[in-house]
Amino acid sequence: MQKDTIKTNKFTSVLLDVKNEALAQIVDASSIKELEELKIAYLGRNGKLTNLIKNIQNLPDNEKRQAGTLINESKNTVLDALSTQKNTYKETARDWFNASIPGEKPSVGHLHLVTQAIREITETFEKIGFVKVRYPEVEWDWYAFEALNIPENHPARDDWETFFIDTPTHPKNGSMVLTPHTSNGQVREMLRVKKPPIRMLNIAKNYRRQSDVSHYPMFHQFEGLVVDEGISITHLKGTLDYFARNFFGEDRVTRLRPHHFQFTEPSFEVDISCGVCKGKGCKLCKEGWLELGGAGMVHPTVLRNGKIDPNKYTGFAFGWGVERTYMMKAGLDIGDIRLLYSTDLKFLKQF
Ligand code: DAH
Repeated sequence: MQKDTIKTNKFTSVLLDVKNEALAQIVDASSIKELEELKIAYLGRNGKLTNLIKNIQNLPDNEKRQAGTLINESKNTVLDALSTQKNTYKETARDWFNASIPGEKPSVGHLHLVTQAIREITETFEKIGFVKVRYPEVEWDWYAFEALNIPENHPARDDWETFFIDTPTHPKNGSMVLTPHTSNGQVREMLRVKKPPIRMLNIAKNYRRQSDVSHYPMFHQFEGLVVDEGISITHLKGTLDYFARNFFGEDRVTRLRPHHFQFTEPSFEVDISCGVCKGKGCKLCKEGWLELGGAGMVHPTVLRNGKIDPNKYTGFAFGWGVERTYMMKAGLDIGDIRLLYSTDLKFLKQF
């Protein structure tokens, strides 16, 4: 009995020594890493406390229980000390954090110049009742040319340097092309609406086989089409002037110059008064006017192809490049239009 008590007392005092030693070292530890090392030194597989736990089995049965309780308590005390000490380090780490220093903002992008242009053009026309639509970019020859009064082999086709798609020919619609203009939407819209009034704004990608400083093989156009009873050139002119004032600026006006398109009669080129010299003539415009694009009164054959009676209804149409129009508004003179579709963020961030 005596012997056992001594043994237990010895165990207890060894245990207390180990525990105190551990606590002293924990308090002295100066980093999380040191604390991790101490944890291993005392509680790891070969740790000093762990080894004492292993010794319990050598004690007499009636002492085992008390020794077990003691050693559990010591273990918990050491664990608590370790975690308290770890937290103080966390506290110190938090002290370095200064909430008043501005953070680094993740960079936020913005809409591409062409998307901004499309939105602005759409808003301007929606205010006077135009409805935005989109028609296929991969299109039948019929809608892109034939229905617009440009039969196969007509020399006018050369104006649209077309990409052809290698597909079997459709008996009525012909072959497939990448639409070279948004005018393909004219007959499609007539067939969709069936009965005028029509006030269409078709904005889409177009494709032509040309690439140089002022052309990119893919670009955008916006096409207006109005069909109703009694539509005349004055409605066209009024719409164009409305657009000029609201999109380019209060003091801007348009002028029509006679031209030729297969799908309009009469046809015009539309010019807008120069915003720089106000029509006097300057380096930008030369004679006071800037060229916007084509327009005209819808050709009766085109109306017929859209199943609309040209004796009852008339219409006007216009189709211009989005990129070009927007650059004219911003007074931008981009040396190489291909930059617009590059990934050069230094260039694109300016807009
Ligand atoms: N589609 C023509 C082109 O791409 C532009 C055009 C001219 C559209 C006259 C029209 C128009 O609607 O009436 O060159």
